[in-house]
Amino acid sequence: MDVSKLMFREGLMAGQRILVTGGGTGLGREMSEAFLKLGATVYICGRRQCKLDETVAELTALHGGKIVGHACDIRDPEAIHAMVDTIWADGGALTGVVNNAAGNFISRTEDLSVNGFNAIADIVMRGTFYVTLDIGKRLIAEKKKASFLSILTTWVWSGSAFVVPSAMSKTAINAMTQSLATEWGRYGLRFNAIAPGLFPTKGMSARLHPGGAGGNSGNNLNPMGRAGEMHELANLAVFLMAPGAEYVNGQTIAIDGAGFQANGGTFYPMLHALGDAEWEQLRAMIKGTNEKDKAERSV
Ligand code: HXC
Repeated sequence: MDVSKLMFREGLMAGQRILVTGGGTGLGREMSEAFLKLGATVYICGRRQCKLDETVAELTALHGGKIVGHACDIRDPEAIHAMVDTIWADGGALTGVVNNAAGNFISRTEDLSVNGFNAIADIVMRGTFYVTLDIGKRLIAEKKKASFLSILTTWVWSGSAFVVPSAMSKTAINAMTQSLATEWGRYGLRFNAIAPGLFPTKGMSARLHPGGAGGNSGNNLNPMGRAGEMHELANLAVFLMAPGAEYVNGQTIAIDGAGFQANGGTFYPMLHALGDAEWEQLRAMIKGTNEKDKAERSV
């Protein structure tokens, strides 16, 4: 990311302690970089230790400060608990959590198995809730304030064909955002969400546009005629996480160049015409990516 395009003053986030789930790669890495650059202590977790180590080394070399990686699969509540114990022992309560970790792939719904559904729902819906619950309980017990931010999509308002487990799970987290904003607001815990449009990342491209599926038609249909730039997403995330925005609570904010208003922002226009052979091919490409990622998890 071009950090010169961050719109905030140096040191804005000094004293903040933020966990970014899925912070080793993709959008999580970009937001982590912005928080670190602005002075926060940043904890990142993900399933691949090698990716976390790489990100910690690269961001420390670029910006200094303190960023720590913890290998943790958020589908496992005990692993979350152990990680959060370690974070608390390393300097006390977190002041912020970014629920960014996700899993997704395009598929016709009739081609999904129960395992396929659970692979997404366990990360996106259950995992996000486990992280929020574990950390929320500690903050309430210690009477500490914090900001929670979840990364969603505009499908929480529209649903989306061909990514039904993701649309269902992210919608559940949208409900969590609104529900806990009210229930836990009295503890000084606030909950907001961002619904990014097209911000191309490796994990997303490999599973949602394998081999360029759908071309860049999402881009062309977007009124701004381009994808989002990472600093634009990071600026919104910093605004929602930084001191000074405490009265913003219970909101889900889209950052998609009005793609949602213009075309619904879903996969339907790009994928509805594909036939059996094309779906077979896409599935094979996605599986290849999943296998490669899995191999890295054991490194
Ligand atoms: C049908 C599939 C499939 C496919 C996997 N499965 N890929 N089914 N079509 N293309 C099925 C498998 O066959 C298996 O079911 C089950 O899903 C679990 O597969 P695993 O590979 O064992 O899962 P796992 O290793 O746990 O990996 C989880 C994952 C993977 C979600 C499937 O994609 C992942 O780790 N993703 C993380 C990164 C990521 O997805 N990034 C993109 C996020 S984009 P069976 O029945 O065979 O056992 C995003 C929103 C973007 O979140 C919004 C844009 C606007």
